[in-house]
Amino acid sequence: MTALPGGETPVLLVGVDFGHPHFDGELEELGLLAETAGMMPVARLTCKRKAPDAALFVGSGKADEIRMLAQMHGALEVLFDQVLSPAQQRNLERHLELPVNDRTLLILEIFAQRARSHEGKLQVELARLQYLSTRLVRRWSHLERQTGGIGARGGPGEKQIELDRRMIGDAVKRTRERLVKVKRQRSTQRRQRERRDTFNISLVGYTNAGKSTLFNALVKARAYAADQLFATLDTTTRQLYLGGADRSVSLSDTVGFIRDLPHGLVDAFQATLQEAIDADLLLHVVDASNPGFPEQTEQVQRVLREIGAADIPQILVFNKIDLLPNEQRPVQTGDHYDLDGHVFRRLFVSAQSGEGLDVLRQALASTVLAAQAAMTPGTAIELPGIST
Ligand code: GTP
Repeated sequence: MTALPGGETPVLLVGVDFGHPHFDGELEELGLLAETAGMMPVARLTCKRKAPDAALFVGSGKADEIRMLAQMHGALEVLFDQVLSPAQQRNLERHLELPVNDRTLLILEIFAQRARSHEGKLQVELARLQYLSTRLVRRWSHLERQTGGIGARGGPGEKQIELDRRMIGDAVKRTRERLVKVKRQRSTQRRQRERRDTFNISLVGYTNAGKSTLFNALVKARAYAADQLFATLDTTTRQLYLGGADRSVSLSDTVGFIRDLPHGLVDAFQATLQEAIDADLLLHVVDASNPGFPEQTEQVQRVLREIGAADIPQILVFNKIDLLPNEQRPVQTGDHYDLDGHVFRRLFVSAQSGEGLDVLRQALASTVLAAQAAMTPGTAIELPGIST
Protein backbone atom coordinates (compact mmCIF):
# COMPACT_ATOMS: atom_id res chain seq x y z
CA MET A 1 0.00 0.00 0.00
CA THR A 2 1.23 3.48 -0.81
CA ALA A 3 -0.14 6.96 -0.13
CA LEU A 4 -3.94 7.21 -0.02
CA PRO A 5 -5.89 8.54 -3.05
CA GLY A 6 -5.88 12.06 -1.60
CA GLY A 7 -2.09 11.90 -1.27
CA GLU A 8 -2.14 11.45 2.52
CA THR A 9 0.33 9.06 4.14
CA PRO A 10 -1.49 6.31 6.07
CA VAL A 11 -0.22 6.33 9.66
CA LEU A 12 -0.64 4.25 12.80
CA LEU A 13 -1.07 6.25 16.02
CA VAL A 14 0.38 4.95 19.28
CA GLY A 15 -0.17 6.33 22.77
CA VAL A 16 1.26 5.05 26.02
CA ASP A 17 -0.62 5.67 29.25
CA PHE A 18 1.88 6.24 32.06
CA GLY A 19 -0.92 7.26 34.41
CA HIS A 20 -0.63 11.01 33.65
CA PRO A 21 -3.94 12.81 34.09
CA HIS A 22 -3.87 14.30 30.60
CA PHE A 23 -3.50 11.00 28.75
CA ASP A 24 -5.61 11.24 25.61
CA GLY A 25 -7.14 7.73 25.40
CA GLU A 26 -8.70 8.35 22.00
CA LEU A 27 -5.51 9.92 20.60
CA GLU A 28 -7.79 12.59 19.23
CA GLU A 29 -5.31 15.44 19.34
CA LEU A 30 -2.54 13.33 17.77
CA GLY A 31 -5.01 12.35 15.03
CA LEU A 32 -5.80 16.02 14.35
CA LEU A 33 -2.11 16.88 14.33
CA ALA A 34 -1.47 14.04 11.84
CA GLU A 35 -4.30 15.20 9.58
CA THR A 36 -3.06 18.75 9.74
CA ALA A 37 0.37 17.53 8.60
CA GLY A 38 -1.21 15.76 5.60
CA MET A 39 -1.44 12.22 7.01
CA MET A 40 -4.39 9.90 7.53
CA PRO A 41 -4.64 7.82 10.72
CA VAL A 42 -5.65 4.29 9.65
CA ALA A 43 -5.31 2.60 13.07
CA ARG A 44 -4.74 3.52 16.72
CA LEU A 45 -3.17 1.60 19.56
CA THR A 46 -2.90 2.52 23.21
CA CYS A 47 -1.25 0.62 26.04
CA LYS A 48 -0.40 1.09 29.68
CA ARG A 49 3.08 1.04 31.18
CA LYS A 50 4.60 2.11 34.47
CA ALA A 51 7.68 3.56 32.80
CA PRO A 52 9.07 3.74 29.25
CA ASP A 53 11.21 0.88 28.04
CA ALA A 54 14.69 2.34 27.60
CA ALA A 55 15.28 0.66 24.24
CA LEU A 56 11.89 0.36 22.55
CA PHE A 57 9.72 2.71 24.62
CA VAL A 58 6.81 0.23 24.55
CA GLY A 59 8.72 -3.04 25.09
CA SER A 60 9.32 -5.70 22.46
CA GLY A 61 5.98 -7.53 22.80
CA LYS A 62 4.01 -4.33 22.11
CA ALA A 63 6.44 -3.38 19.37
CA ASP A 64 5.62 -6.68 17.61
CA GLU A 65 1.93 -5.92 17.99
CA ILE A 66 2.47 -2.47 16.46
CA ARG A 67 4.30 -4.01 13.52
CA MET A 68 1.44 -6.44 12.86
CA LEU A 69 -1.20 -3.74 13.16
CA ALA A 70 0.73 -1.47 10.79
CA GLN A 71 0.97 -4.26 8.22
CA MET A 72 -2.69 -5.13 8.57
CA HIS A 73 -3.81 -1.54 7.95
CA GLY A 74 -1.14 -0.59 5.43
CA ALA A 75 0.34 2.15 7.65
CA LEU A 76 3.50 3.63 6.18
CA GLU A 77 4.58 5.48 9.30
CA VAL A 78 4.08 5.18 13.07
CA LEU A 79 3.42 8.25 15.22
CA PHE A 80 3.86 8.31 18.99
CA ASP A 81 1.89 10.67 21.20
CA GLN A 82 4.80 10.94 23.60
CA VAL A 83 8.29 12.27 23.10
CA LEU A 84 10.78 9.54 22.10
CA SER A 85 14.47 9.71 22.81
CA PRO A 86 16.69 9.59 19.71
CA ALA A 87 17.75 6.02 20.64
CA GLN A 88 14.17 4.82 21.13
CA GLN A 89 13.15 6.32 17.83
CA ARG A 90 16.04 4.64 16.03
CA ASN A 91 15.47 1.26 17.70
CA LEU A 92 11.76 1.37 16.93
CA GLU A 93 12.44 2.19 13.29
CA ARG A 94 14.68 -0.84 13.02
CA HIS A 95 12.22 -3.09 14.81
CA LEU A 96 9.16 -1.93 12.88
CA GLU A 97 10.96 -1.34 9.58
CA LEU A 98 8.94 1.84 9.21
CA PRO A 99 9.64 5.52 9.86
CA VAL A 100 8.76 6.42 13.44
CA ASN A 101 8.09 9.96 14.61
CA ASP A 102 6.78 11.63 17.72
CA ARG A 103 4.56 14.57 18.63
CA THR A 104 7.45 16.99 18.71
CA LEU A 105 8.48 16.33 15.14
CA LEU A 106 4.87 16.45 14.01
CA ILE A 107 4.37 19.87 15.58
CA LEU A 108 7.61 21.12 14.05
CA GLU A 109 6.51 19.77 10.68
CA ILE A 110 3.18 21.59 10.86
CA PHE A 111 4.83 24.82 11.92
CA ALA A 112 7.24 24.47 9.00
CA GLN A 113 4.40 23.91 6.53
CA ARG A 114 2.37 26.83 7.84
CA ALA A 115 4.77 29.61 8.64
CA ARG A 116 4.07 32.42 6.20
CA SER A 117 5.98 35.48 7.24
CA HIS A 118 9.72 35.73 6.81
CA GLU A 119 10.19 35.84 10.56
CA GLY A 120 7.89 32.88 11.20
CA LYS A 121 9.80 30.79 8.65
CA LEU A 122 13.15 31.67 10.20
CA GLN A 123 11.88 30.81 13.67
CA VAL A 124 10.61 27.39 12.65
CA GLU A 125 13.80 26.71 10.74
CA LEU A 126 15.81 27.44 13.86
CA ALA A 127 13.65 25.19 16.05
CA ARG A 128 13.91 22.41 13.48
CA LEU A 129 17.66 22.67 13.22
CA GLN A 130 17.98 22.54 16.99
CA TYR A 131 15.80 19.43 17.13
CA LEU A 132 17.77 17.79 14.33
CA SER A 133 21.09 18.57 15.94
CA THR A 134 20.29 16.03 18.67
CA ARG A 135 18.74 13.42 16.38
CA LEU A 136 20.66 13.40 13.10
CA VAL A 137 23.99 13.31 14.80
CA ARG A 138 23.07 10.35 16.95
CA ARG A 139 21.56 8.53 14.00
CA TRP A 140 25.01 8.19 12.53
CA SER A 141 26.52 6.75 15.67
CA HIS A 142 25.66 3.18 14.59
CA LEU A 143 28.05 3.62 11.65
CA GLU A 144 30.72 4.67 14.04
CA ARG A 145 30.23 1.55 16.13
CA GLN A 146 30.22 -0.72 13.08
CA THR A 147 33.54 0.49 11.77
CA GLY A 148 35.35 1.19 14.98
CA GLY A 149 37.09 -2.01 16.17
CA ILE A 150 39.67 -2.19 18.95
CA GLY A 151 42.27 0.48 18.40
CA ALA A 152 40.43 1.74 15.34
CA ARG A 153 39.60 5.43 15.36
CA GLY A 154 37.61 7.53 12.97
CA GLY A 155 35.67 5.75 10.25
CA PRO A 156 32.80 7.03 8.15
CA GLY A 157 30.45 7.32 11.13
CA GLU A 158 32.65 9.71 13.03
CA LYS A 159 33.41 11.78 9.93
CA GLN A 160 29.74 12.01 9.11
CA ILE A 161 28.89 13.05 12.68
CA GLU A 162 31.48 15.82 12.50
CA LEU A 163 30.18 16.95 9.12
CA ASP A 164 26.57 16.98 10.27
CA ARG A 165 27.45 18.76 13.46
CA ARG A 166 29.35 21.45 11.61
CA MET A 167 26.67 21.88 8.94
CA ILE A 168 23.88 22.15 11.47
CA GLY A 169 25.97 24.43 13.69
CA ASP A 170 26.62 26.78 10.73
CA ALA A 171 22.99 26.77 9.72
CA VAL A 172 21.87 27.54 13.31
CA LYS A 173 24.30 30.46 13.45
CA ARG A 174 23.21 31.87 10.09
CA THR A 175 19.52 31.56 10.97
CA ARG A 176 20.06 33.21 14.37
CA GLU A 177 21.83 36.15 12.75
CA ARG A 178 19.04 36.63 10.23
CA LEU A 179 16.46 36.46 13.01
CA VAL A 180 18.22 39.11 15.05
CA LYS A 181 17.95 41.49 12.09
CA VAL A 182 14.26 40.77 11.56
CA LYS A 183 13.54 41.16 15.26
CA ARG A 184 15.27 44.53 15.34
CA GLN A 185 13.00 45.75 12.52
CA ARG A 186 10.00 44.41 14.39
CA SER A 187 10.81 46.16 17.61
CA THR A 188 11.18 49.45 15.73
CA GLN A 189 7.70 48.92 14.33
CA ARG A 190 6.43 48.12 17.81
CA ARG A 191 7.91 51.25 19.30
CA GLN A 192 6.19 53.28 16.61
CA ARG A 193 2.92 51.62 17.50
CA GLU A 194 3.39 52.26 21.21
CA ARG A 195 3.79 55.93 20.53
CA ARG A 196 0.40 55.92 18.89
CA ASP A 197 -1.16 55.32 22.30
CA THR A 198 -3.27 52.33 21.29
CA PHE A 199 -4.94 49.85 23.61
CA ASN A 200 -3.79 46.38 22.55
CA ILE A 201 -5.88 43.26 23.03
CA SER A 202 -4.48 39.84 22.13
CA LEU A 203 -6.38 36.62 21.61
CA VAL A 204 -4.55 33.69 23.09
CA GLY A 205 -5.64 30.10 23.60
CA TYR A 206 -5.13 26.45 22.97
CA THR A 207 -4.97 25.48 19.32
CA ASN A 208 -8.43 25.06 17.71
CA ALA A 209 -10.19 26.93 20.54
CA GLY A 210 -11.73 29.30 18.00
CA LYS A 211 -9.45 32.36 18.25
CA SER A 212 -9.54 33.17 14.53
CA THR A 213 -13.29 32.65 14.37
CA LEU A 214 -13.74 35.05 17.29
CA PHE A 215 -11.28 37.50 15.75
CA ASN A 216 -13.28 37.46 12.51
CA ALA A 217 -16.58 37.80 14.32
CA LEU A 218 -15.32 40.79 16.30
CA VAL A 219 -13.57 42.70 13.54
CA LYS A 220 -15.63 41.21 10.72
CA ALA A 221 -12.44 40.40 8.86
CA ARG A 222 -11.60 37.16 7.21
CA ALA A 223 -8.60 35.68 8.97
CA TYR A 224 -8.06 32.06 8.10
CA ALA A 225 -10.20 29.79 10.32
CA ALA A 226 -10.10 26.07 9.78
CA ASP A 227 -10.71 22.89 11.70
CA GLN A 228 -7.02 22.27 11.73
CA LEU A 229 -4.44 22.80 14.39
CA PHE A 230 -2.27 25.88 14.09
CA ALA A 231 -4.24 27.36 11.21
CA THR A 232 -2.81 30.70 12.34
CA LEU A 233 0.94 30.98 12.75
CA ASP A 234 1.64 34.59 12.16
CA THR A 235 0.05 37.31 14.19
CA THR A 236 -2.71 39.31 12.49
CA THR A 237 -3.73 42.70 13.91
CA ARG A 238 -6.83 44.75 13.08
CA GLN A 239 -8.56 47.77 14.51
CA LEU A 240 -11.71 47.06 16.47
CA TYR A 241 -14.17 49.86 17.13
CA LEU A 242 -15.89 49.63 20.52
CA GLY A 243 -19.08 51.68 20.55
CA GLY A 244 -19.34 51.47 24.34
CA ALA A 245 -16.02 53.29 24.73
CA ASP A 246 -16.32 55.32 21.53
CA ARG A 247 -12.81 54.43 20.47
CA SER A 248 -10.85 51.84 18.53
CA VAL A 249 -8.50 49.31 20.02
CA SER A 250 -6.13 47.01 18.25
CA LEU A 251 -6.95 43.30 18.31
CA SER A 252 -4.37 40.60 17.51
CA ASP A 253 -4.87 36.94 16.70
CA THR A 254 -1.88 34.84 17.76
CA VAL A 255 -0.51 31.34 17.31
CA GLY A 256 -2.34 28.57 19.18
CA PHE A 257 -0.72 26.82 22.13
CA ILE A 258 -0.50 23.07 22.63
CA ARG A 259 0.61 20.75 25.39
CA ASP A 260 4.26 19.71 25.28
CA LEU A 261 5.06 22.48 22.83
CA PRO A 262 8.59 21.64 21.74
CA HIS A 263 10.83 23.81 23.82
CA GLY A 264 12.68 25.23 20.87
CA LEU A 265 9.37 26.42 19.54
CA VAL A 266 8.43 28.32 22.68
CA ASP A 267 11.75 30.14 22.36
CA ALA A 268 11.42 30.50 18.64
CA PHE A 269 7.93 31.91 18.84
CA GLN A 270 8.76 34.34 21.57
CA ALA A 271 8.86 37.07 18.97
CA THR A 272 5.57 36.09 17.41
CA LEU A 273 4.08 35.87 20.87
CA GLN A 274 5.59 39.24 21.68
CA GLU A 275 2.27 40.59 20.52
CA ALA A 276 0.70 38.80 23.48
CA ILE A 277 3.40 39.98 25.88
CA ASP A 278 2.86 43.59 24.84
CA ALA A 279 -0.92 43.44 25.18
CA ASP A 280 -2.89 45.54 27.65
CA LEU A 281 -5.49 42.79 27.88
CA LEU A 282 -5.54 39.10 26.96
CA LEU A 283 -8.66 37.34 25.76
CA HIS A 284 -7.97 33.74 26.65
CA VAL A 285 -10.22 31.71 24.35
CA VAL A 286 -11.22 28.26 25.63
CA ASP A 287 -13.06 25.54 23.70
CA ALA A 288 -15.79 24.90 26.28
CA SER A 289 -17.10 21.95 24.28
CA ASN A 290 -13.83 20.04 24.64
CA PRO A 291 -13.87 17.79 27.74
CA GLY A 292 -10.12 18.39 28.02
CA PHE A 293 -10.57 22.17 28.48
CA PRO A 294 -9.25 22.35 32.09
CA GLU A 295 -5.94 20.79 31.02
CA GLN A 296 -5.78 22.96 27.89
CA THR A 297 -6.47 26.08 29.94
CA GLU A 298 -3.65 25.18 32.30
CA GLN A 299 -1.25 24.60 29.41
CA VAL A 300 -2.02 28.05 28.05
CA GLN A 301 -1.40 29.59 31.47
CA ARG A 302 1.93 27.78 31.60
CA VAL A 303 3.06 29.13 28.22
CA LEU A 304 1.92 32.61 29.26
CA ARG A 305 4.13 32.30 32.33
CA GLU A 306 7.04 31.09 30.19
CA ILE A 307 6.83 34.05 27.84
CA GLY A 308 6.39 36.53 30.69
CA ALA A 309 2.74 37.38 30.01
CA ALA A 310 1.22 35.95 33.19
CA ASP A 311 0.62 39.34 34.81
CA ILE A 312 -1.37 40.88 32.01
CA PRO A 313 -5.09 41.31 32.80
CA GLN A 314 -7.05 38.47 31.31
CA ILE A 315 -10.66 37.66 30.47
CA LEU A 316 -11.56 34.01 29.89
CA VAL A 317 -13.79 33.58 26.86
CA PHE A 318 -15.50 30.21 26.96
CA ASN A 319 -16.32 29.62 23.32
CA LYS A 320 -18.38 27.08 21.33
CA ILE A 321 -21.24 27.07 23.82
CA ASP A 322 -23.53 26.22 20.90
CA LEU A 323 -22.00 22.74 20.98
CA LEU A 324 -22.86 22.11 24.63
CA PRO A 325 -25.83 19.86 25.42
CA ASN A 326 -28.78 21.84 26.78
CA GLU A 327 -28.31 20.75 30.38
CA GLN A 328 -24.69 22.01 30.35
CA ARG A 329 -25.42 25.36 28.73
CA PRO A 330 -24.66 28.26 31.06
CA VAL A 331 -27.69 30.22 32.14
CA GLN A 332 -25.81 33.48 32.73
CA THR A 333 -23.71 35.36 30.21
CA GLY A 334 -20.69 35.20 32.49
CA ASP A 335 -19.29 34.55 35.94
CA HIS A 336 -15.91 34.22 37.63
CA TYR A 337 -13.54 31.29 37.29
CA ASP A 338 -10.73 30.20 39.56
CA LEU A 339 -7.54 29.35 37.70
CA ASP A 340 -4.12 28.93 39.25
CA GLY A 341 -5.32 30.64 42.41
CA HIS A 342 -6.45 33.72 40.43
CA VAL A 343 -10.06 34.59 39.88
CA PHE A 344 -10.75 35.60 36.30
CA ARG A 345 -13.82 37.09 34.76
CA ARG A 346 -15.37 34.51 32.44
CA LEU A 347 -17.77 35.11 29.55
CA PHE A 348 -19.67 32.48 27.55
CA VAL A 349 -19.85 32.96 23.79
CA SER A 350 -20.27 31.24 20.49
CA ALA A 351 -18.02 32.91 17.97
CA GLN A 352 -19.89 31.01 15.31
CA SER A 353 -23.48 31.92 16.15
CA GLY A 354 -22.60 35.32 17.63
CA GLU A 355 -24.19 34.51 20.99
CA GLY A 356 -22.58 36.42 23.87
CA LEU A 357 -20.53 38.70 21.62
CA ASP A 358 -22.41 41.84 22.60
CA VAL A 359 -21.62 41.21 26.26
CA LEU A 360 -18.00 40.59 25.31
CA ARG A 361 -17.85 43.90 23.41
CA GLN A 362 -19.32 45.70 26.40
CA ALA A 363 -16.78 44.06 28.71
CA LEU A 364 -13.99 45.21 26.40
CA ALA A 365 -15.37 48.73 26.29
CA SER A 366 -15.61 49.00 30.08
CA THR A 367 -12.08 47.62 30.44
CA VAL A 368 -10.74 50.22 28.02
CA LEU A 369 -12.63 53.00 29.80
CA ALA A 370 -11.33 51.83 33.19
CA ALA A 371 -7.77 51.72 31.84
CA GLN A 372 -8.20 55.21 30.36
CA ALA A 373 -9.49 56.49 33.70
CA ALA A 374 -6.50 54.90 35.42
CA MET A 375 -4.19 56.92 33.18
CA THR A 376 -5.92 60.12 34.22
CA PRO A 377 -4.35 61.41 37.45
CA GLY A 378 -6.65 61.50 40.49
CA THR A 379 -9.10 58.89 39.17
CA ALA A 380 -9.93 55.75 41.14
CA ILE A 381 -8.73 52.62 39.35
CA GLU A 382 -11.05 49.68 39.01
CA LEU A 383 -10.73 47.17 36.22
CA PRO A 384 -14.15 45.49 36.13
CA GLY A 385 -13.83 42.02 37.64
CA ILE A 386 -10.57 41.15 36.02
CA SER A 387 -7.79 39.40 37.83
CA THR A 388 -4.18 39.86 36.94
P1 GTP B 1 -5.42 27.71 15.71
O1 GTP B 1 -5.13 28.53 14.50
O2 GTP B 1 -5.15 26.26 15.54
O3 GTP B 1 -4.82 28.24 16.96
O4 GTP B 1 -7.04 27.67 15.90
P2 GTP B 1 -8.02 28.79 16.36
O5 GTP B 1 -8.06 28.86 17.85
O6 GTP B 1 -7.76 30.08 15.64
O7 GTP B 1 -9.42 28.16 15.92
P3 GTP B 1 -10.32 28.49 14.64
O8 GTP B 1 -10.96 29.83 14.75
O9 GTP B 1 -9.54 28.16 13.41
O10 GTP B 1 -11.50 27.43 14.88
C1 GTP B 1 -11.28 26.04 14.97
C2 GTP B 1 -12.55 25.32 14.57
O11 GTP B 1 -13.58 25.55 15.53
C3 GTP B 1 -13.13 25.76 13.22
O12 GTP B 1 -13.65 24.62 12.56
C4 GTP B 1 -14.24 26.70 13.61
O13 GTP B 1 -15.26 26.76 12.65
C5 GTP B 1 -14.74 26.04 14.89
N1 GTP B 1 -15.38 27.03 15.79
C6 GTP B 1 -14.85 28.18 16.27
N2 GTP B 1 -15.72 28.82 17.08
C7 GTP B 1 -16.81 28.03 17.13
C8 GTP B 1 -18.08 28.13 17.82
O14 GTP B 1 -18.39 29.06 18.56
N3 GTP B 1 -18.94 27.09 17.64
C9 GTP B 1 -18.66 26.02 16.85
N4 GTP B 1 -19.59 25.06 16.74
N5 GTP B 1 -17.51 25.90 16.19
C10 GTP B 1 -16.60 26.89 16.32
